[in-house]
Amino acid sequence: MCGIVGFIGNKNAKEVILNGLSRLEYRGYDSAGLSLFNSRYRVFDVFKDEGRVQKLIDSTKESQFSNIGIGHTRWATHGKVNKENSHPHYSQTRRFIIVHNGVIENYQQLKDQYLKNSSFVSETDTEVIAQLIETFSQTLNVETAITTTLKLLHGSYALLILDSNDPEKIYAAKYKSPLIIGKGDAGITIASDLMALVGYSTDYHALDDKTFIVARPDNIRLFNLNNESLDFHFKPIELDDSDTTKGEYAHFMMKEVHEQPSVVRRILTNYFDKDASLIKPEIIDQIKSSDRIFILAAGTSMHAGLIGKQMIEKMSSIPVEVHIASEFAYHQPLLSKKPFFILVTQSGETADLRACLVNIKDQNYPILTITNVPTSTLAREASYALELFAGPEIAVASTKAYVAQVTVLSLLAYELSSKNIDIKKELSIAATSIENFLASENIREHVRNLLTRRNCFFIGRGLDYFVGLEAALKLKEISYIQTEGFAAGELKHGTIALIEDKTPVIAIISDPKINGNTRSNLKEVQARGASTLIISTRDLAYPDDDVILDPVHPLLTPLITVVPTQLIAYYAALERSYDIDKPRNLAKSVTVE
Ligand code: G6P
Repeated sequence: MCGIVGFIGNKNAKEVILNGLSRLEYRGYDSAGLSLFNSRYRVFDVFKDEGRVQKLIDSTKESQFSNIGIGHTRWATHGKVNKENSHPHYSQTRRFIIVHNGVIENYQQLKDQYLKNSSFVSETDTEVIAQLIETFSQTLNVETAITTTLKLLHGSYALLILDSNDPEKIYAAKYKSPLIIGKGDAGITIASDLMALVGYSTDYHALDDKTFIVARPDNIRLFNLNNESLDFHFKPIELDDSDTTKGEYAHFMMKEVHEQPSVVRRILTNYFDKDASLIKPEIIDQIKSSDRIFILAAGTSMHAGLIGKQMIEKMSSIPVEVHIASEFAYHQPLLSKKPFFILVTQSGETADLRACLVNIKDQNYPILTITNVPTSTLAREASYALELFAGPEIAVASTKAYVAQVTVLSLLAYELSSKNIDIKKELSIAATSIENFLASENIREHVRNLLTRRNCFFIGRGLDYFVGLEAALKLKEISYIQTEGFAAGELKHGTIALIEDKTPVIAIISDPKINGNTRSNLKEVQARGASTLIISTRDLAYPDDDVILDPVHPLLTPLITVVPTQLIAYYAALERSYDIDKPRNLAKSVTVE
């Protein structure tokens, strides 16, 4: 959840690290910190405080040149958001300085067992790692002190370590949390995300679990925890600046909403060679030979999973269950005889899903990960992976990744079916429908008139209900309006008690079967004073409907009905002057359970 960047080479490390941290800030933004070598006093200076990277940029303006450094943005897990708990942390004598992403579950036990005589300045689990390395370095060489420490840690870590006695090296290690090494003319950059490497590295190596590296300006070595040397597998970095900047948009979220038609088209390009599908036949055969699919996911990805269930069941008749990852991990339901698992995850790093993956692997069941990050842990550890091709999603509120997930799930459903629709054509129609809506939308005006209360409801039935769940999540996470997505017919069984004068109720209608029913439910809430807004497809629209979308194939309606709801959330947050791309308390990639 935290962002980590380290640099060693022939440039000012501060520039590389601060640029990288700014790009990674979406991973966590409670505090930011940096350590640079001070050649005058031969020590590593540490600059850190609660708050955003901009504050760190201001506070390090005067710092002198250093060709080595490590930095961090934090999403607090252990200990309050304050300066002491911010990273980097250091050992008692300040010899070792470290930044950490992850959670050390046995930190208290390690403290009691090995560090009775050490004094601590923070409440974090991370400080224990620095103290352990220092303690072990009294009798062991540094590399062995580090690996001895790593072997004691339970939990997850991506770590960068500096040693004041040897300021020409960065040590890096990882277990469960991602860490990428980049090399380029300027030197070595090590970060928790590829985006931090753009502009500084041409090639990257994604570090495997339980491996660690020793980086010098002119040389880098890779080891396992038994200090045996390993080979790097560098690949070219294919991202560029346009992937990491807002371009003409005020916020990443708006940029990403507008990228959605091209994401759908890019998926088609990447998944078809003329009319031949590029999904491995092996994946399709294995799913077809299973008796039930289990889709596991969290947040927005879980909502995409619900759409995937409908599409797969309707197209292929294979039964599908969708489970929330954090629940499935510890309360596994009864499985069928031959289950097939699909993990849907934008980041490929969600810890709740990893907990599921470990259990499923133990039971030897096949797993397919559908993710935006092919180098991610969940992509690498699954039996198969399918890429979303959405490009980096930087706004914390997920938009284009959801549309990409639904698109890829529709392709999978199609491959499992008897293929009696022209999926390429239908998806192209959906891309155009999104484009047409975005070209002429007036959502901001609706939002001003409608969202005047502290609560809001989205209602729909079938696929529209599932889109309502996603719409509600989007609105609450960035505008802080308490919002619920509700099955339209269920509202009257209790929740209608909350409807009062001007309560906003937004209906999604894209299915002819339920058009009349959902409209009756709208009448019921209007009769009780609700202010309503209706999003419908043109084939079903009534003249007074507020947002009318070009119709698409009945199974693909979520791709278009979700888009106005993304803008409802965006404009609601904009009207309230909230930080749209970095909503409070949230993080993009949730690498703790
Ligand atoms: C976080 C993000 C959500 C995301 C969820 C699952 O909560 O803020 O936008 O849907 O994690 O993430 P994943 O990367 O697994 O899709």
